[in-house]
Amino acid sequence: MRVVLADIDLDAAASVAAGLTADGAEAWAEHVDVRDPVSVDDLARSAWARGSVALLVNNAGVEQIGYLWETSEESWRRVWEVNVSGVFHGIRSFVPRMIAAGGGARVWNVASIGAISGMPMQASYIASKHAVLGLTESLRMDLAQAGHPIEVAAVLPAPVASRIFADAELTAEGDIEAAQQVQRMMTELLRSAQDPDAAAREIFRQGTAGEFYILPDEALGEERMRVRAERLLRREAPSAARSAG
Ligand SMILES: NC(=O)c1ccc[n+]([C@@H]2O[C@H](COP(=O)([O-])OP(=O)(O)OC[C@H]3O[C@@H](n4cnc5c(N)ncnc54)[C@H](O)[C@@H]3O)[C@@H](O)[C@H]2O)c1
Repeated sequence: MRVVLADIDLDAAASVAAGLTADGAEAWAEHVDVRDPVSVDDLARSAWARGSVALLVNNAGVEQIGYLWETSEESWRRVWEVNVSGVFHGIRSFVPRMIAAGGGARVWNVASIGAISGMPMQASYIASKHAVLGLTESLRMDLAQAGHPIEVAAVLPAPVASRIFADAELTAEGDIEAAQQVQRMMTELLRSAQDPDAAAREIFRQGTAGEFYILPDEALGEERMRVRAERLLRREAPSAARSAG
């Protein structure tokens, strides 16, 4: 595949693109702020100028830690604008072009295992990932109803070794210590979490096999799905102690 890597951090995207190019692939880095519909539209235009886009991965996401009632309006909006509106902007800019191109194409939206389970002190992130999953399920139904051959999938990663928690915004206006403790715990947990390359390989394997629910850690993902489904069927309230559905 020829790859366009777009990120708000252009230097980071450029260094990944340079690595791919050194390995013999064709890759370009672009700046995008997924919160801004004009920026995403510019990205779509420049990507399509290089060829027909066969796969769009809506991946940008940010974390936030703190009790919901102590979360500032600004922080809530940031999580929502990146994690949810960012995915919407990607769909609005790329899907009409995919439809016009007429062939098959794919859209993979990166939600999280947090779309089917929960954790204390991450309400805005968890809510945003539930929204991404709902939006992705709806998009699949819309495209099927309209008869467009575009395959849609929701990616539900379990913890993957990345900087997402180290970079998380702590917005606990009151109990900052509790938020710092969660950040330390999650940053530590991610150190031994799934390797990003292994997660990417699984995403490609399952996505190209046509799975709708892509689970980069299949065993853990299926376990979380089972726990959530059974809890709902029992009409049982979520428990912070178990944090698994
Ligand atoms: N790492 C995990 O444990 C985990 C688990 C489940 C889901 N996810 C999801 O996977 C996706 C990738 O996260 P990651 O773990 O690789 O973290 P990451 O922080 O390494 O990557 C997120 C990327 O999004 C970019 N970004 C942030 N705001 C942006 C904006 N406004 N416009 C464009 N780009 C922006 C960041 O610069 C960063 O490169 C996210 O959607 C995240 O929620 C991660």
